[in-house]
Amino acid sequence: MTSDEVIDLLTEAYVDELETVMNYLTNSIVLDGVHAEEVKESLAEDVEEELEHARLLGQRLKQLDESPPGSEGFEARQSSLQPPADTTDVQSVIEGVLEAEENAMETYRALYEAAGEANDPVTEDVAVTVLADEEAHHTEFRGFQKEFPTD
Ligand SMILES: [Fe+2]
Ligand SMILES: [Fe+2]
Repeated sequence: MTSDEVIDLLTEAYVDELETVMNYLTNSIVLDGVHAEEVKESLAEDVEEELEHARLLGQRLKQLDESPPGSEGFEARQSSLQPPADTTDVQSVIEGVLEAEENAMETYRALYEAAGEANDPVTEDVAVTVLADEEAHHTEFRGFQKEFPTD
């Protein structure tokens, strides 16, 4: 029906989505300044989408007779998405979001490939659906990044 690799990737992606929910929510609350409002609004909207991704992945695990994990054993990995010490440092949050979205895109491409090899078209469909959202998030934050001069 599917492979261990598919299960592992679904589980990893589920945990990553929930870490993303936490960090986007926190940053949507804490940022300050004239450049912050649009970024905060976008992050708040993305919280809902990332949570929906976790729901889709968890439901797919359940259909495969596996359980999505709880918080025990959770290892935080998004060091670049921690709320900045300087709350007007919107740029560091934008960079953190771009990195998180790139990692997510990589995971969903890997999930798509693994599901294809396992002849699991339903998981392939989940991977494509979520990948399309992550590419849209990435494009939006690349737009925000253009407002900030590099060096
Ligand atoms: Fe996501
Ligand atoms: Fe995303």
